[in-house]
Amino acid sequence: MEREVVITGDGSSTIHLPQWNEQYHSKHGAIQEAYHVFIKYGLHHYCYSELDSESQLKVVSKGIQTARISILEIGFGTGLNAFITLLEAEKLKCSIDYYGVEGYPVEKEEVVQLNYPEKLDVASKENLFINLHDVSWEDQHSITPNFSLTKQNRFFSEIKEKEQFNIIYFDAFGARVQPELWTEDIFQKMYEALQNNGVLVTYAAKGSVRRAMQTVGFSVEKLPGPPGKREMLRATKKS
Ligand SMILES: C[S@@+](CC[C@H](N)C(=O)[O-])C[C@H]1O[C@@H](n2cnc3c(N)ncnc32)[C@H](O)[C@@H]1O
Repeated sequence: MEREVVITGDGSSTIHLPQWNEQYHSKHGAIQEAYHVFIKYGLHHYCYSELDSESQLKVVSKGIQTARISILEIGFGTGLNAFITLLEAEKLKCSIDYYGVEGYPVEKEEVVQLNYPEKLDVASKENLFINLHDVSWEDQHSITPNFSLTKQNRFFSEIKEKEQFNIIYFDAFGARVQPELWTEDIFQKMYEALQNNGVLVTYAAKGSVRRAMQTVGFSVEKLPGPPGKREMLRATKKS
């Protein structure tokens, strides 16, 4: 499918799919959306509540690098979520094992057009961003001392992990263009892949999505959405 790199409302880039009139991120701001949905309501929420309840985050807040968090991303795409999570791991002083699943990897010519290091004010870390894309698929790589990346080139329907992850960034294309990715079958896989107390966050807020999550066992919260979107969802596994 044809793809083109375009600029969103906060000046950061994203990829646009003309045939579907769909984008990899919000047109209001790719970086803004990523921080709001996945970092604020996903990673930070998990670190400052769930881990604390298990006495691990005392660890993080005291700056001792022993907390280990395992994150699954549904749709690795441009690597933006992975990159900002890598930057956050440094700030939080925790170790993150990041797994990015992607069926249709972006090409090198697209990667070099993405302006995330510059827009995040970390131009000196551009090599790390490029490295996220350059490392081989299916192997685990230590990108920084506290961020490892395993990219998996496969379809979401092939995910079979059980009780492995603490957080899922569910960043599939919208239900308008890929309704098959917002079903009970897919959320059942997500539920099984999470550890107890694990959370799944997504930019979506549709009632049918929320009900599919609840049917497979998730407790679901509606939260304020990023600019341009009223609401988003966070689903927690409490078995
Ligand atoms: C909304 S974009 C993800 C954006 C990404 N998180 C980022 O920060 O750039 C959705 C991604 O899912 C991938 N995708 C679509 N259908 C898929 C499928 N069935 N299995 C695996 N990947 C798929 C697309 O290629 C695209 O990269």
